[in-house]
Amino acid sequence: MSAPHSQPHLETLIAPFMADCEELALSLLVLPQPHVPAGVTRPAGQELLTAMCRDQLASGGKRLRALLTPALVAAANGPVEAARVFGAGVELIHNGTLVHDDIQDGDTLRRGRPTLWTQFGVAQGINAGDALLMGAVAGVLRSDAIELDLRATLGALLAEALCETIRGQVADLALRDLPQPSLQDVESVHLAKTGPLFSACFVGAVRLLRRGPVAEKAAFELGREIGLAFQIRDDLLDLLGTKGRGDAGADLREGKPTWPVLVALRDVPGPEADGIRALLRQATQGSPPSDADVAQAVAWVRAVGGEATARAHLAATLARAEAAAGEAFAPDAAVVALALCERLARLDG
Ligand code: IPE
Ligand code: IPE
Ligand code: MG
Ligand code: MG
Ligand code: MG
Repeated sequence: MSAPHSQPHLETLIAPFMADCEELALSLLVLPQPHVPAGVTRPAGQELLTAMCRDQLASGGKRLRALLTPALVAAANGPVEAARVFGAGVELIHNGTLVHDDIQDGDTLRRGRPTLWTQFGVAQGINAGDALLMGAVAGVLRSDAIELDLRATLGALLAEALCETIRGQVADLALRDLPQPSLQDVESVHLAKTGPLFSACFVGAVRLLRRGPVAEKAAFELGREIGLAFQIRDDLLDLLGTKGRGDAGADLREGKPTWPVLVALRDVPGPEADGIRALLRQATQGSPPSDADVAQAVAWVRAVGGEATARAHLAATLARAEAAAGEAFAPDAAVVALALCERLARLDG
C-alpha cells in the first residue's frame, strides 16, 4: 500500500472531481424556483451575493474537501453523483469558514489574492460566509442526486461538522488570551478547527457506501488524525513561507502560537524561547514584531528542530492512518484513502 503505486491512479481518479466542483458548488447555493416570488427576476441582493460567492470559489484552493468523498466512493463503485454533491457541500462550508476566518484574523491575502472582506467590506464578507455555510447544508438536503433516506443524515453531518469547526475557531481565538499556551492547547485547537470537515468527508463516504457504525467510527478518527496533521502541515508551510501570504512567519507576526513553534519552545527552553514567547505576547497586544525579529524567530525554530519534529509527526500520522483506513473502507477504497491522506500531508502542493 505504498504511495508510488497508488499516486498516479489517485490523480486520474480525482481529476474529474476537481474540474467542475466550482460550478456544482455554486449550483447548490441557487434558490429553488418555487421559492422565488412570481414576477421577480432578480431578488434583492442576489446579484452581489452570487458575485461574492463566485469570487470566493474562483480563488481556487486545493479543493481537497471536494474530492475526498467522491474519490473514495468511486473507488468502491458507490453513488458517485451523490458523493460529488456532498463533496461540493463540504468545499462550500470550508470556503465559508475561510471567509469568516480571514475577517477574524485580519488577513488581507489568501491563495495569493486579496481576501473577500478587503474587496467587499467586513459586513458583506460576513454575509457571503453565511450564505456559503447555510447554502451548503440546504443544497445537500434538497439534492436529487442523493438518495432520499441519506439526505437528512448527510445534511446533519455537514451542519454538525460546521458547529464543531466553529467551536474550534472560538477556541483558536480564546487561545490568544492565554499568557503561555502549551503545545497541548494548540493541538486541541488544531484538532477542533480542522478535524471536523475532514471527518465529514470520510464519514460521508462511509454513509454513502452504507458501511455501518464501526466503519463510521474509524472514518471519524481518520479525519481527526488527518485534520491535525494537515494543520501542522499548514503551520509548517507558514514557517517555511510557502503559503501565498508573504514572508515566512505570518503566524508569529499575528501572535498565533503554532505547532512547530511550540514544539521548539517546549524542547529547547532558554533565553531564545523566552524571547519568542514575549514576541507572541506582544503581537497579540497590538505591537507586531519587526520583520527582522520574525525572521530571527523563524530561523531559530527551524534550527533547533521545530521543523524536523513537525515533519516527523506528519510521517507518524500517516503510519497510523493506514490502519484506520483499513477499518473504514474495503480494500480498494482503503488504498485510495491512504493515498489521499499522503496527498493531504504533502508539503509541496
Ligand atoms: C486552509 O485549508 C485552512 C485550514 C484549515 C488549514 P486549505 O489549505 O485546504 O485551503 P485551500 O482550500 O487549499 O485554500
Ligand atoms: C483556519 O485556520 C481554520 C478554519 C477556517 C476552520 P487558520 O486561521 O490557521 O488558517 P489560515 O492560516 O488562515 O489558512
Ligand atoms: Mg486564518
Ligand atoms: Mg484563524
Ligand atoms: Mg494557519
